[in-house]
Order: sequence, then structure tokens, then C-alpha cells
Amino acid sequence: ELLEVIDIKEDQSLPPAKKIKLRSIGENIGSRVAVRGWIHRLRLQKGLGFVTVRDGTGYVQCVLTGDLAKAKSTHELTLETSICIKGVINKLPEGKSAPGGVELKADFYEVVGQAPSGEESFSNKVQENADPSLLLDQRHLTLRGEALSAVMKVRSAFLYAIRRFFEEEGLLEVTPPCMVQTQVEGGSTLFKMNYYGEDAYLTQSSQLYLETCLPSLGDVFCVQESFRAEKSHTRRHLSEYTHIEGELAFIDFEDLLVHLEKLLTQTVKYVLEDPVAGPLIKQLNPNFVAPKGPFLRMEYVDALEWLNEHGIPNEDGEKFKFGDDIAEAAERKMTDTIGKPILLIRFPVEIKSFYMQKCADDRRVTESVDVLMPNVGEILGGSMRMYDYDELVASIKKEGLDLDSYYWFTDLRKYGTCPHGGYGLGTERILAWLCDRFTVRDCSLYPRFSGRCKP
Ligand code: 4AD
Repeated sequence: ELLEVIDIKEDQSLPPAKKIKLRSIGENIGSRVAVRGWIHRLRLQKGLGFVTVRDGTGYVQCVLTGDLAKAKSTHELTLETSICIKGVINKLPEGKSAPGGVELKADFYEVVGQAPSGEESFSNKVQENADPSLLLDQRHLTLRGEALSAVMKVRSAFLYAIRRFFEEEGLLEVTPPCMVQTQVEGGSTLFKMNYYGEDAYLTQSSQLYLETCLPSLGDVFCVQESFRAEKSHTRRHLSEYTHIEGELAFIDFEDLLVHLEKLLTQTVKYVLEDPVAGPLIKQLNPNFVAPKGPFLRMEYVDALEWLNEHGIPNEDGEKFKFGDDIAEAAERKMTDTIGKPILLIRFPVEIKSFYMQKCADDRRVTESVDVLMPNVGEILGGSMRMYDYDELVASIKKEGLDLDSYYWFTDLRKYGTCPHGGYGLGTERILAWLCDRFTVRDCSLYPRFSGRCKP
């Protein structure tokens, strides 16, 4: 049966359509509106069409009837075609469901950019069961999907929420450089670059720079990309990630731990209260319960005992002994079994970074903390910093680092030192926990890991 070629014209006698974003659809019931967006879903029958439009701020189901439903051009619509649709927003009758509980009764539409059909069609490009690597090649398209875009919306709300927390706590935002000449977290994961003929690196952490701000700005934080040349592929390692770091002056280790509990509980509370992110977290992670402080505190030595009691071996397949690293798999088993946030504290000197303050009552261990969350493991790492000049210089030398490159960092211990501490939070890691994603890759806009630097 041949479709009718109908020239779709706007009825000029209708009230002018108000240009809206879909997030405000609920406030426009009964009004004639113009919606611009992309075709997200499409169901066409004879005499009736349902077109779900997405504009990034929401979704709306549009109902096409009469000429609009019969027209040939309607039957040529494809997924991801960009379109302008006009019509009146109506509350859905009882028993029917659509996004927001409303539908748009269309009286006119206009195609802005027709998307391909057939071989080149959107659904052919982003088949859900396709190889993950093929899907990553199409990241610019898969981002349009409901789950991935929901995570990105939660991400935005999360960054907003944590900045609100920092503001309330009096931390000032700074933007340290990404191109640096000092390492922070070990040479093995450094991205080296040629900087006008000099050696430089992409930053692994802005910590050292935050420390320099304390005497001029007081407590500070940053939201900055960090780079790690991680060779192995894991669920929770990226080569580039958004690192949220804070640094606090004149605190002790207990103050740091209390601050971290407050940071996590308050920020999560704010995200859950967000009108967009709250419901999305419910969708993505229906069983999520907001953590309550105080968190379980566990010393490294007690974690070893717990692991040994539960028959979880170290990386050599043996019982854990003092000085062993608690690697990802063991850490995850422990965290998942315990099933709630853990502040894992007091790691041995030899498995932690050169700048960490040693505990006064046991010089073998440091005033360090990892925050572990179920399903992800470590989301945050922090510590008190060595603030004695001689001790820090000795530690830099022992680490085999070039002392001269750290002159500005050691100067802080010379020109008015103070006890201080801070932390780094992996944005993609906390999102993986909040949104219940299998991997941090699903929480990054364009994830970077070895072998992947496109799109
Ligand atoms: O434990 P890390 O290495 O600590 C530091 O960089 C400190 N200098 C931070 C500080 O005290 N200012 O990293 C901190 C957090 C980790 O807990 C993890 O959440 C995240 O950064 N992280 C990564 N996230 C994704 N991919 C990677 N390769 C990551 N490496 C660390």
C-alpha cells in the first residue's frame, strides 16, 4: 500500500508554541509547546504514531494522529533523527504510562536532520550485545543511551554536590597544572612527555600543589584530571580520571577521618536529594542505601587477620603477612563480605607513598587511610603528610627521587611548616559505587585505558 505524500503544514490559527526544554514539561501541561530533540523511540501503526523525543534534559512521548500519522515522511522517520515537534502537553489517562506521566499531542513536526536507515542505522551501530571494544569505538553514539546518559547526569550532580560540601567546609577551589616535573605516586605509572626538550609528566595527583596552597589560601580542593599509565586492564583503573583532591592545614589524623566521613555522607545526601540525580540513582541502583557515619574503622593489621581467617590468600597464594599489599581481588572480597563502607587505616611504610607521616606510636605504619566501598573497593586514598623538613628530605632520597625537583615541596617544611593532611577521591570510582556500574569505564565520558584513546 502506497503512503500518502502529505505536505505537513503548521496551522497558523493555533496559539504560538512555547519553546521548552523537556525538563520543564510538567510545568507546561495544557500548553502548546515546541520541543526540539532526537527520536529516541519510534512506533508507527496505520493512523497512529508514537515518537519518543529526547533532548538531553528529558523524554516525551509524542502522539501523531490524522495526516501526521499517515504521511509518507512520518513513515520514513528513523531513530536519532533530529526533529522539532509542536503540540499540546496532556496528562496521560489513568492506566497509561510514559515518561513524566504526560504526552504531547502533535499538530506539526519538522525534520531537522534525518538519520540513516538500514545498514547505517543507529540501532545497527550500537547493538547492545556487541563487543565492548566496538561499542567504545561508537562511544559518541552509545552516550545517547539511557543508562550511560543517566550516569553522566548523576556525575554532574555529584560534582555539584561535592563542591557544595567543600564550600560549606570552607575549602577553596584551585586549578593546579597537569604538566609537571615531579612524581607523587610512583614512577611505574608515569606518563612521560617531551616538554620543549625537557622531561615532564602528566600529573598523577595534584596533592603536592595543593599542599603549597595551604599557607596562602587555607584549606583547598581541586577537581582535576590525573593520569596513570596503568598497564593492566581492571574494572577500576583508567589512564585518565577525574581526581577530586582536598588538603587541610593544622589537622590531626582523627580530624582527617572525621572530615572524610562527613564528606561522603553529606555529598551522597546532596546527590540523592537532587531532583534529577536522585531518581536516576534509584533506577540504576535500586538497592542503594546512603551510608551513615561513623564508618567502620579497620587497621591494616586487623584486615590481614580478617583475610587470613576467611581463607583469602595474598598475591602469592599464601597467608597475608605484615608488609603485603592487599591487592584488588582480596580487598574486594573483604569489602563485599563486610558489605558497608570501611576506613582502612595505618598501612605499612613500605607499601605507601614517600610523603606519608609515620604513626607516633608505631613507626612501622603511616597515618594513612583508604576508603573501601562494597562492589568497588577503594574509592579514596588519603594521609597525613610528613611535615618535618629533615624527615621528608630523607624520605625523598630513600625513594630515589631527585631532591632538586622537589625544592618547592620541601620549602613548605622550611617556611612555616604545619601538620596537615589530605586525600584523593576517584570520581569514576565513587560513581561506579553510587550507580552500581560494573566498571569505572561506564562512569567516564570517553574512558582512556591502554589501547584506547579514541574517540
Ligand atoms: O590512592 P591514590 O594513588 O592517592 C593519591 O594520588 C594521593 N596523592 C591523593 C591525595 O592524597 N591527594 O589515588 C587516590 C584515588 C584512589 O583512591 C582512586 O579512587 C583513584 O584516585 N584512582 C584511580 N581511579 C581510576 N583509575 C586509576 N588508574 C586510579 N588510580 C587512582
